[in-house]
Amino acid sequence: MTENKPQVILETRGLVKKYKVGDEIITALNGVDLKIYQGEFVAILGTSGCGKSTLLNMISGLERPTKGDIYMGNTRINKVSERNMAKFRSKEMGFIFQSFNLIPALSALENVTLPLVLQGVGKKKREKLAKDMLKELGLGKRFHNKPSQLSGGQQQRVAIARSLVTKPKIIFADEPTGNLDSKTTVEILEFFQEIVRKRKCTLIMVSHDLEVAQYADRIIHMRDGQVTKITKGGLAMEAMSDMEAKVEELPNILSDKDAEEKR
Ligand SMILES: Nc1ncnc2c1ncn2[C@@H]1O[C@H](COP(=O)(O)OP(=O)(O)OP(=O)(O)O)[C@@H](O)[C@H]1O
Ligand SMILES: [Mg+2]
Repeated sequence: MTENKPQVILETRGLVKKYKVGDEIITALNGVDLKIYQGEFVAILGTSGCGKSTLLNMISGLERPTKGDIYMGNTRINKVSERNMAKFRSKEMGFIFQSFNLIPALSALENVTLPLVLQGVGKKKREKLAKDMLKELGLGKRFHNKPSQLSGGQQQRVAIARSLVTKPKIIFADEPTGNLDSKTTVEILEFFQEIVRKRKCTLIMVSHDLEVAQYADRIIHMRDGQVTKITKGGLAMEAMSDMEAKVEELPNILSDKDAEEKR
């Protein structure tokens, strides 16, 4: 039975990216081999300049590697034409950025319907989908606000709604909580955990912050363009199972006490 076996959704083999700036060659990625599974929340963690965004740009098909390959299913995406890649991206991928990247002149609702407009979804259907998505993110009363009329956390939730409304298989988030306070950060990260469970999609998040990365199932640690180690995340999940373990211990404690009293 293969049903419970995690499926590889994305794989990189020997990924190298070099940039030429003047006479200097900068090696941003220096041989990255990775497997990412369907339905997992993965964090890519490392200090500034280690190559996190470069890696994200490669695996989402925004940029091409200097060497190596990226497979999504059976598709070698670094060989797909730019035009087909753009189509593939809008159908299968969602993007969330540190600076939200909302269109200032459009309302929350219009920002969220935009990817559906580009996909040619009819007006009625796209408004319903966008409204449902905004409601799911707790923005049912903010449809007509422009980005400037929303808080930072609300703007990021609009951006998340926009990235999810097309039901992508993979969501890429580059420092999505970089501009948010700690309370809003936790809310967004818990929401990420929830949508990955609920929709069984894959979420790949870049961060330089270990505390943020801990919300992911797995943490890919990077340094100088290479993966140095992969560890388990799941901070909130672990805390929960700790609690469960304690609750499970309770009946024993009680029955021991009962036994003592009876003696
Ligand atoms: N378009 C580019 N041209 C030249 N060099 C680049 C380019 N993009 C990135 N680099 C260089 O590649 C290296 C990796 O950059 P990258 O943006 O991937 O880092 P990062 O880990 O995302 O950092 P940060 O946490 O600051 O966002 C850096 O040394 C950077 O200067
Ligand atoms: Mg970056």
